[in-house]
Amino acid sequence: MFGDELEKRLVAGIPAQRYCHIAGGSVPSTYTPIVPISNKTLPMLELACFVEQRIWFYNYPVRFFLMDISARTTIIRLDDGGLWVHSPGPLSPELVSALNALGPVRYLVAPGNFHYLHVRDFQKAYPNAVTFLCPGIDKKAPNLPFHELLGHTAPKAWRGQIDQVHVRGAKHMTEVAFCHRDTKTLILTDLIENIGSDTPDVDWKLRFWWKRIFHMWNTPKPAPEYQLGTQDRDAIRAALQQILSWDFDRIMLAHGDLILDDAKEIACQAWSQVLSDP
Ligand SMILES: [Fe+2]
Repeated sequence: MFGDELEKRLVAGIPAQRYCHIAGGSVPSTYTPIVPISNKTLPMLELACFVEQRIWFYNYPVRFFLMDISARTTIIRLDDGGLWVHSPGPLSPELVSALNALGPVRYLVAPGNFHYLHVRDFQKAYPNAVTFLCPGIDKKAPNLPFHELLGHTAPKAWRGQIDQVHVRGAKHMTEVAFCHRDTKTLILTDLIENIGSDTPDVDWKLRFWWKRIFHMWNTPKPAPEYQLGTQDRDAIRAALQQILSWDFDRIMLAHGDLILDDAKEIACQAWSQVLSDP
């Protein structure tokens, strides 16, 4: 159940997990995002398809500095059918059923030093999954079990399918950015947030801070924590330049509206301050 029929169902608001199950079938040579309606009609903790047969996501609520903000978990089906889970969020029985229908959960990826709180939930639900942490989480959460720290080079498990780079050099925030080659999808955590007039479920406090303090309302930019100081600007710039060298035309991000058009231009603009510094 794909293509036009799937899009009709998305627009009609039919729960996503009903049509996300893929029972075999060939992988198409080109991929088209199927979330043209942003995430406006998507309830929290409901799985939605982003790219047919390959990428899914769900949103979940987060309370941060007294602000209500949503975050996003991304799931990629690797070539062998195993699932790669980026920024694991809270789980519900319905979500577990929906994920199980997609394939075996093999890899849990905590991609940034603010995105690890629900890794335990996934570890309990999927005890055989291998956990990868962004460097820094191991010190911040020393009791969180993990198998490997992420680095500049993709581990063998997804090498050749997903590229990655560790973005370090900011004072308060660090993350590992990814690019899924086949679907040309850049997967970011906090390096770009895209919150504005079209973003659902934005409370007045978040609107105030984003408009009046951080000036990032309707303007994709790095998370405020990235803007609060740097230790190694050259390191950040080098990582951003590597990201921009990747072949991507859409951006899956953890906070705000997905970026489906002009992705590289928007990324350049969002990071212009760091990129243009001498
Ligand atoms: Fe975040």
